[in-house]
Amino acid sequence: MSQSAWQTSRLPKFKKLNKSLRVDTVVIGGGITGLSAAYFLKMSGKDVAVVERDRIGMGDTGMTTAHLTAVTDMRLSTLAKTFGEEQARLVWEGGARAIDAIDAVALAEGIHCDFRRVPGFLHAPLREQPAKDEIERFRKEAELGARLGIPVEFVQSAPIVNRPGLRFADQAKFDPLDYLGGLARAIHGDDCEIFENTEATEVDEDPLVIHCGKHKIQCDHLVIATHVPLMGATGLVRATLLQSKLFHYSSYAIGAKVSHGTLPEVSLWDTSDPYYYLRIDQRKSGPYAIFGGEDHKTGQSEDTEASFERLSDLLRELLPSAQIDRRWSGQVIETNDGLPYVGPTAERQFVATGFAGNGMTFGTLAGMMAADWVLGRTTPWQELFAVNRTKVIGGTKDYLKENLDFPWFLIKDRLSPAEGHSPEEVEPGTGKILNIDGRRIACSRDEQGHLEAVSAVCTHLGCLVRWNQAEHTWDCPCHGSRFKPDGSVLAGPAETALAKFEVSQNGAAAGQAETRQHQHSGGAAKGP
Ligand SMILES: Cc1cc2nc3c(=O)[nH]c(=O)nc-3n(C[C@H](O)[C@H](O)[C@H](O)COP(=O)(O)OP(=O)(O)OC[C@H]3O[C@@H](n4cnc5c(N)ncnc54)[C@H](O)[C@@H]3O)c2cc1C
Ligand code: FES
Repeated sequence: MSQSAWQTSRLPKFKKLNKSLRVDTVVIGGGITGLSAAYFLKMSGKDVAVVERDRIGMGDTGMTTAHLTAVTDMRLSTLAKTFGEEQARLVWEGGARAIDAIDAVALAEGIHCDFRRVPGFLHAPLREQPAKDEIERFRKEAELGARLGIPVEFVQSAPIVNRPGLRFADQAKFDPLDYLGGLARAIHGDDCEIFENTEATEVDEDPLVIHCGKHKIQCDHLVIATHVPLMGATGLVRATLLQSKLFHYSSYAIGAKVSHGTLPEVSLWDTSDPYYYLRIDQRKSGPYAIFGGEDHKTGQSEDTEASFERLSDLLRELLPSAQIDRRWSGQVIETNDGLPYVGPTAERQFVATGFAGNGMTFGTLAGMMAADWVLGRTTPWQELFAVNRTKVIGGTKDYLKENLDFPWFLIKDRLSPAEGHSPEEVEPGTGKILNIDGRRIACSRDEQGHLEAVSAVCTHLGCLVRWNQAEHTWDCPCHGSRFKPDGSVLAGPAETALAKFEVSQNGAAAGQAETRQHQHSGGAAKGP
């Protein structure tokens, strides 16, 4: 897989859970949401155990571009129209409070994470022609913002991109993994612990017990901060209903050194859909640009390499001296009405998800809200972000259209011919869905020639996975689950690995080598 702009080497390491224990709260997930929740809980005097399946920061927090902004993907005017002006102001307030909290935590804990206040610019599209009334719309948005007490003004020309837009004062940016490392150091110790390489595999409701392989943690409260929510103790129907309101998109980013003299440190986002986003950092070695966009529904792009190519071409048009040295991608989770889902989903169980492009701020806010929930305190956002809110079931995204993917891809991919019949057809560095003995096997070969063969049937609800050439992962087009070449889960909603197969080089014999724990949907699909 590719590498993001953030250094993982400075992250502290934590041991695997090797005992059973009891704490006030278990937090599942060691990204910004989970570690923020654990930090605020510890500050409130609670004992916390964080369990992380991989290493902390290796989920989407390690793949972010880390603009810290209260400007949401949904325009202020759309928020106001959908939820009312007072609620739109509250959403803004949530982002602004989160930025202030990150600033305060970094200061209090002495975390060197390059936190900087910068202006943010929402500007006319980079690629397309702006709409005729674009300037008029920006002006109206600025008027609405001013009415709501938001520091925004219309500008004829945003820096670097030279397009009209809006300038939002007092936004920020930081290094997310340096911040996460600082949070982790502050959390671990004094009856609070972080466990890495520890997967939560099951939840018992009464008493509340989290199973992590053969060890168990008993607790009074559970915070699920896994970005894609685990089912936990939520009933299947409610868990599936929440899932149907979450839409998984892959987003791409590149990093480049720029020898461009002086460039202002800013955050920029255009108004196209999907939108492009750019931040400029001043590093010791000179200006560094981080540019992202090209979002598509996970597992539904035929050519993931092309997304990086388009992004690179556009950055070089904007900044001709750009020398691209990093590229990566990850997932953003959108919701049916544009707001995140943060709150309880069962008695003593709290979930935070659906942050779209605002996971740094909403993840931090969700951490604060989780601490308030454990302490029995109310927060201004609890109704607006409630998981069971009913006001907007259809919402701004087309609920039905987004959910049609499931039956469509389930049937379509099973009826399509396989991409090959023998592992010999799988070149180094590629993956193919093979039909071996009537079974669909996802076969991939690494650059050294090592072959992995796993069932092509997604363990969530049975669609067929597809090879992502840019990231060397198996991605599911139905609800966005992602798997590593060895079948282990990289991102849910699937909670179970793809079953492993052993195949001979010519594919003559295929046998299921291993069926993993908690297998829901069996082995490889039978079909053409
Ligand atoms: C390319 C890109 C650019 C982005 N840019 C921005 C931006 O500029 N600003 C912004 O605010 N947001 C941005 N985002 C969104 C943001 O990165 C995410 O919303 C945010 O990182 C989500 O954080 P999280 O802690 O909720 O999830 P994650 O960071 O994904 O953490 C969840 C963790 O849970 C763990 N886990 C899962 N299942 C289990 C289990 N069963 N047991 C134990 N652990 C488990 C995972 O291993 C993972 O580490 C961007 C995202 C992408 C992909
Ligand atoms: S079937 Fe739902 S993610 Fe694969």
